[in-house]
Amino acid sequence: MQALRGVSFMVAPAAMVVIVGKSGSGKTTLLNCMGGLDRPDSGRVIYAGRDLHCMPQRELSLFLRRDMGFVFQFGNLLSYLTVFENIAFPLTLNAVADNEKKRRVSELLERIGLADASRALPHELSGGEVQRVAVARALAHRPKLLLADEPTASLDSATGRNLINLMFAMGRESGCTMVLSTHDTEVMDLADQCIRIRDGMVQEGEGRRQ
Ligand SMILES: Nc1ncnc2c1ncn2[C@@H]1O[C@H](COP(=O)(O)OP(=O)(O)OP(=O)(O)O)[C@@H](O)[C@H]1O
Ligand SMILES: [Mg+2]
Repeated sequence: MQALRGVSFMVAPAAMVVIVGKSGSGKTTLLNCMGGLDRPDSGRVIYAGRDLHCMPQRELSLFLRRDMGFVFQFGNLLSYLTVFENIAFPLTLNAVADNEKKRRVSELLERIGLADASRALPHELSGGEVQRVAVARALAHRPKLLLADEPTASLDSATGRNLINLMFAMGRESGCTMVLSTHDTEVMDLADQCIRIRDGMVQEGEGRRQ
Protein backbone atom coordinates (compact mmCIF):
# COMPACT_ATOMS: atom_id res chain seq x y z
CA MET A 1 0.00 0.00 0.00
CA GLN A 2 1.21 3.50 -0.77
CA ALA A 3 0.61 6.05 1.99
CA LEU A 4 1.60 8.95 -0.29
CA ARG A 5 1.45 9.17 -4.08
CA GLY A 6 2.73 11.84 -6.45
CA VAL A 7 3.09 14.40 -3.71
CA SER A 8 4.71 17.63 -4.86
CA PHE A 9 4.52 21.11 -3.38
CA MET A 10 6.67 23.98 -2.19
CA VAL A 11 6.53 25.93 1.01
CA ALA A 12 7.88 29.49 1.09
CA PRO A 13 10.19 30.56 3.92
CA ALA A 14 8.26 31.95 6.90
CA ALA A 15 4.91 30.72 5.52
CA MET A 16 2.16 29.46 7.82
CA VAL A 17 0.90 26.27 6.22
CA VAL A 18 -1.99 23.95 7.09
CA ILE A 19 -2.28 20.36 5.86
CA VAL A 20 -5.89 19.22 5.99
CA GLY A 21 -7.19 15.74 5.40
CA LYS A 22 -9.34 13.03 6.90
CA SER A 23 -8.04 10.29 9.17
CA GLY A 24 -5.77 7.95 7.21
CA SER A 25 -5.26 10.42 4.35
CA GLY A 26 -1.48 10.54 4.95
CA LYS A 27 -0.88 13.68 7.06
CA THR A 28 1.42 12.06 9.60
CA THR A 29 3.34 10.20 6.89
CA LEU A 30 3.79 13.45 4.96
CA LEU A 31 4.98 15.42 8.01
CA ASN A 32 7.32 12.61 9.03
CA CYS A 33 8.84 12.59 5.53
CA MET A 34 9.15 16.39 5.58
CA GLY A 35 10.90 16.24 8.94
CA GLY A 36 13.34 13.50 8.03
CA LEU A 37 11.73 11.04 10.48
CA ASP A 38 10.41 8.71 7.75
CA ARG A 39 12.26 8.02 4.54
CA PRO A 40 10.14 7.98 1.37
CA ASP A 41 10.72 5.04 -1.00
CA SER A 42 11.13 7.53 -3.80
CA GLY A 43 11.17 11.27 -4.25
CA ARG A 44 13.04 14.04 -2.48
CA VAL A 45 12.50 16.45 0.36
CA ILE A 46 14.49 19.58 -0.35
CA TYR A 47 15.09 21.95 2.54
CA ALA A 48 17.09 25.12 1.80
CA GLY A 49 18.61 23.46 -1.26
CA ARG A 50 19.59 20.23 0.51
CA ASP A 51 17.93 16.83 0.10
CA LEU A 52 17.17 15.77 3.68
CA HIS A 53 17.18 12.10 2.90
CA CYS A 54 20.62 12.26 1.28
CA MET A 55 22.26 13.87 4.29
CA PRO A 56 24.61 11.70 6.34
CA GLN A 57 22.90 10.64 9.60
CA ARG A 58 25.12 12.88 11.70
CA GLU A 59 24.26 15.95 9.65
CA LEU A 60 20.56 15.06 9.67
CA SER A 61 20.61 14.75 13.48
CA LEU A 62 22.28 18.13 13.78
CA PHE A 63 19.74 19.65 11.39
CA LEU A 64 16.85 18.18 13.38
CA ARG A 65 18.26 19.42 16.66
CA ARG A 66 19.07 22.95 15.49
CA ASP A 67 16.71 23.86 12.68
CA MET A 68 13.56 21.85 13.32
CA GLY A 69 10.89 21.85 15.97
CA PHE A 70 8.14 19.26 16.34
CA VAL A 71 4.80 19.34 18.09
CA PHE A 72 3.07 16.01 18.42
CA GLN A 73 -0.61 15.22 18.65
CA PHE A 74 -0.62 14.68 22.40
CA GLY A 75 2.07 17.10 23.53
CA ASN A 76 4.49 14.37 24.58
CA LEU A 77 5.87 16.42 27.45
CA LEU A 78 8.33 14.64 29.71
CA SER A 79 6.10 13.81 32.66
CA TYR A 80 8.81 13.98 35.34
CA LEU A 81 10.07 17.41 34.26
CA THR A 82 8.42 20.71 35.18
CA VAL A 83 6.96 23.06 32.59
CA PHE A 84 10.15 25.15 32.77
CA GLU A 85 12.39 22.11 32.37
CA ASN A 86 10.34 20.77 29.47
CA ILE A 87 10.68 24.03 27.55
CA ALA A 88 14.38 24.28 28.44
CA PHE A 89 15.10 20.74 27.19
CA PRO A 90 15.99 21.57 23.55
CA LEU A 91 18.18 24.41 24.83
CA THR A 92 20.09 21.94 26.98
CA LEU A 93 20.52 19.69 23.93
CA ASN A 94 21.87 22.68 22.02
CA ALA A 95 24.23 23.61 24.89
CA VAL A 96 22.66 27.04 25.51
CA ALA A 97 24.12 28.74 28.62
CA ASP A 98 21.99 28.67 31.80
CA ASN A 99 21.26 32.42 32.02
CA GLU A 100 20.26 32.60 28.34
CA LYS A 101 18.15 29.46 28.84
CA LYS A 102 16.34 31.07 31.76
CA ARG A 103 15.75 34.26 29.79
CA ARG A 104 14.33 32.47 26.76
CA VAL A 105 12.12 30.09 28.74
CA SER A 106 10.71 32.96 30.86
CA GLU A 107 9.97 34.93 27.70
CA LEU A 108 8.16 31.94 26.17
CA LEU A 109 6.20 31.28 29.37
CA GLU A 110 4.95 34.87 29.28
CA ARG A 111 4.09 34.54 25.60
CA ILE A 112 1.99 31.41 26.12
CA GLY A 113 0.32 32.85 29.23
CA LEU A 114 1.78 30.29 31.64
CA ALA A 115 4.30 32.37 33.58
CA ASP A 116 2.75 31.17 36.85
CA ALA A 117 2.95 27.52 35.93
CA SER A 118 6.69 27.18 35.41
CA ARG A 119 7.08 24.73 38.32
CA ALA A 120 4.00 22.66 37.50
CA LEU A 121 4.29 19.11 36.25
CA PRO A 122 2.49 18.17 33.02
CA HIS A 123 -0.25 16.17 34.80
CA GLU A 124 -1.28 19.36 36.61
CA LEU A 125 -2.07 21.13 33.33
CA SER A 126 -5.17 21.16 31.12
CA GLY A 127 -4.96 19.71 27.59
CA GLY A 128 -4.74 23.19 26.08
CA GLU A 129 -1.96 24.18 28.50
CA VAL A 130 0.01 21.01 27.70
CA GLN A 131 -0.17 21.87 24.00
CA ARG A 132 0.94 25.45 24.64
CA VAL A 133 3.95 24.14 26.55
CA ALA A 134 4.66 21.70 23.69
CA VAL A 135 4.61 24.64 21.25
CA ALA A 136 6.93 26.70 23.47
CA ARG A 137 9.28 23.72 23.77
CA ALA A 138 9.31 23.22 20.01
CA LEU A 139 10.20 26.91 19.50
CA ALA A 140 12.68 27.37 22.36
CA HIS A 141 15.80 26.72 20.27
CA ARG A 142 14.46 29.10 17.57
CA PRO A 143 14.03 26.58 14.78
CA LYS A 144 13.65 27.70 11.19
CA LEU A 145 10.94 25.12 10.53
CA LEU A 146 8.27 23.86 12.88
CA LEU A 147 6.20 20.78 12.03
CA ALA A 148 3.11 20.06 14.10
CA ASP A 149 1.06 16.89 13.67
CA GLU A 150 -2.52 17.61 14.72
CA PRO A 151 -1.49 19.77 17.68
CA THR A 152 -5.14 20.58 18.34
CA ALA A 153 -6.56 17.06 18.05
CA SER A 154 -7.26 16.66 21.76
CA LEU A 155 -8.73 20.15 22.18
CA ASP A 156 -12.20 21.58 21.71
CA SER A 157 -12.50 23.72 18.61
CA ALA A 158 -12.27 27.14 20.32
CA THR A 159 -9.17 26.13 22.32
CA GLY A 160 -7.70 24.56 19.19
CA ARG A 161 -8.25 27.67 17.16
CA ASN A 162 -6.66 29.82 19.90
CA LEU A 163 -3.63 27.54 19.88
CA ILE A 164 -3.23 27.80 16.12
CA ASN A 165 -3.62 31.57 16.29
CA LEU A 166 -0.93 31.68 18.98
CA MET A 167 1.38 29.40 16.98
CA PHE A 168 1.02 31.40 13.80
CA ALA A 169 1.49 34.68 15.69
CA MET A 170 4.71 33.31 17.20
CA GLY A 171 5.81 32.05 13.79
CA ARG A 172 5.18 35.41 12.18
CA GLU A 173 7.09 37.20 14.95
CA SER A 174 10.10 34.92 14.69
CA GLY A 175 10.12 34.20 10.94
CA CYS A 176 9.79 30.47 11.60
CA THR A 177 8.10 28.48 8.81
CA MET A 178 5.24 26.44 10.28
CA VAL A 179 3.48 23.42 8.80
CA LEU A 180 0.70 21.89 10.84
CA SER A 181 -1.85 19.21 10.12
CA THR A 182 -5.46 19.12 11.20
CA HIS A 183 -8.84 17.59 10.48
CA ASP A 184 -10.43 20.97 11.03
CA THR A 185 -11.07 22.66 7.69
CA GLU A 186 -12.09 25.84 9.51
CA VAL A 187 -8.49 26.69 10.37
CA MET A 188 -7.62 26.89 6.68
CA ASP A 189 -8.40 30.60 6.63
CA LEU A 190 -5.74 31.28 9.28
CA ALA A 191 -2.99 30.00 6.99
CA ASP A 192 -0.93 31.50 4.16
CA GLN A 193 -1.05 28.19 2.29
CA CYS A 194 -3.30 25.20 2.56
CA ILE A 195 -2.42 21.69 1.37
CA ARG A 196 -5.33 19.31 1.05
CA ILE A 197 -4.53 15.64 1.16
CA ARG A 198 -6.79 12.78 0.22
CA ASP A 199 -5.88 9.10 -0.06
CA GLY A 200 -2.20 10.03 -0.03
CA MET A 201 -2.55 12.51 -2.86
CA VAL A 202 -1.98 16.19 -2.46
CA GLN A 203 -4.13 18.77 -3.99
CA GLU A 204 -2.58 22.12 -3.16
CA GLY A 205 -5.10 24.73 -2.21
CA GLU A 206 -4.68 28.37 -1.47
CA GLY A 207 -4.80 30.03 1.89
CA ARG A 208 -5.81 33.49 2.92
CA ARG A 209 -2.69 35.39 1.94
CA GLN A 210 -1.75 33.89 -1.41
N1 LIG B 1 3.89 2.40 9.70
C1 LIG B 1 2.96 2.15 8.79
N2 LIG B 1 2.96 1.01 8.07
C2 LIG B 1 2.02 0.78 7.14
N3 LIG B 1 1.00 1.61 6.84
C3 LIG B 1 0.95 2.75 7.54
C4 LIG B 1 1.92 3.08 8.55
N4 LIG B 1 1.59 4.28 9.05
C5 LIG B 1 0.48 4.67 8.40
N5 LIG B 1 0.12 3.77 7.50
C6 LIG B 1 -1.02 3.86 6.57
O1 LIG B 1 -0.78 4.96 5.73
C7 LIG B 1 -1.98 5.70 5.51
C8 LIG B 1 -1.79 7.12 5.98
O2 LIG B 1 -1.62 7.12 7.38
P1 LIG B 1 -1.29 8.43 8.21
O3 LIG B 1 -1.04 7.99 9.61
O4 LIG B 1 -0.22 9.18 7.52
O5 LIG B 1 -2.67 9.21 8.08
P2 LIG B 1 -3.19 10.48 8.88
O6 LIG B 1 -3.79 11.40 7.85
O7 LIG B 1 -2.10 11.02 9.73
O8 LIG B 1 -4.35 9.90 9.78
P3 LIG B 1 -4.89 10.42 11.24
O9 LIG B 1 -5.67 11.66 10.94
O10 LIG B 1 -5.74 9.29 11.71
O11 LIG B 1 -3.69 10.67 12.11
C9 LIG B 1 -3.08 4.97 6.27
O12 LIG B 1 -3.76 4.15 5.37
C10 LIG B 1 -2.32 4.15 7.30
O13 LIG B 1 -3.02 2.98 7.62
MG1 LIG C 1 -1.89 11.30 11.77
